[in-house]
Amino acid sequence: MRTPVTPHETIGADELAGIVELACRAPSLHNSQPWKWSVENGNLLLTADHSRVAHHTDVTGQEVLLSCGAVLDHLQVAAAAAGWRTSVTRYPDTHDRDRLASIGFQKAESVDEHDRALGDAITRRRTDRLAFAAPEPWDALEKLLREVLEGTVADLDVIDENGRPALAAASRRSEDHRGGDASYRYELLWWAGHSHVDDGLPQTALPSSTEARRVDVARDFPVYGTGDRRANIDRDHSKVLVLSTYDDSRENTVRCGEALSRVLLECTAAGFATCTLTHMIEVHDSREMVRRITGRHSEPQVLVRVGRAPETSDPTDLTPRRPIRESLQGL
Ligand SMILES: Cc1cc2nc3c(=O)[nH]c(=O)nc-3n(C[C@H](O)[C@H](O)[C@H](O)COP(=O)(O)O)c2cc1C
Repeated sequence: MRTPVTPHETIGADELAGIVELACRAPSLHNSQPWKWSVENGNLLLTADHSRVAHHTDVTGQEVLLSCGAVLDHLQVAAAAAGWRTSVTRYPDTHDRDRLASIGFQKAESVDEHDRALGDAITRRRTDRLAFAAPEPWDALEKLLREVLEGTVADLDVIDENGRPALAAASRRSEDHRGGDASYRYELLWWAGHSHVDDGLPQTALPSSTEARRVDVARDFPVYGTGDRRANIDRDHSKVLVLSTYDDSRENTVRCGEALSRVLLECTAAGFATCTLTHMIEVHDSREMVRRITGRHSEPQVLVRVGRAPETSDPTDLTPRRPIRESLQGL
């Protein structure tokens, strides 16, 4: 069904702020939200915010770019759902490599159902760190994801039960490597479970030790409480997606973040639960192990667990975001 919308010349400040606010529901490493927005000559500018980097986790800065790619795609989805077509110019300022995109807005003639469904998925998507039931029916979802990624920079591989022991070994390797890294552990503790209200990971987003034991490929977060949520799922039955790119260039990494966002939103819209994973990518040895599992030469960038989990409508289950006035200037 297509709903006609009234044509306007330019986007209003309030509507633009609303679209940016929705886009900022995008995932980011440790909910660091490493982006800044500004408005110049009627265009919205997206800039990477290097003051918000988890340096001991994201040593290369790749995850800032993945996160910024995710927010850029969320922005386009949020705009489309509100009836605006976007035109994106990448690296609009050759002297400023952190200025990632300039985005123009034109009123769309209509909003289709898929635009609306993806926009709605932004409000429901969340990173779920508990065990999942198997992602059934799988074939239709895999076909959809392959179509969505067609023509993007991201190659898709799916790790199923057969590849799971090797992936669990890669996960252990990365955690063993980090075992003696006090700076990494301290940084993780700072972001995960601290009392800030609008960034980082609240304790409710983290598994207890009983819950964590059921997921053999997860990052080792600090554990809180004695909860036993989803006790009926004996262990994680997810399939794991790997997105890889030809190289680690800034441009491909941002675009891979955009692809990650689209994968997460399509999965959410289709009723699947997701959890983004990068700890295995952050450590050389475990990244090589993931690469070997995919059988590709290209660079693995990010993994996503996909499965079935009960949908929750409790808004307190959503991880909070910074107020929009902190990241948006010039409106
Ligand atoms: C680049 C990137 C890396 C991430 N790495 C992990 C990870 O290794 N483990 C994990 O549980 N979540 C990971 N996440 C998910 C974030 O922690 C999550 O998006 C953030 O806390 C906001 O919560 P939300 O996704 O529920 O809105 C990652 C997200 C991004 C974009």
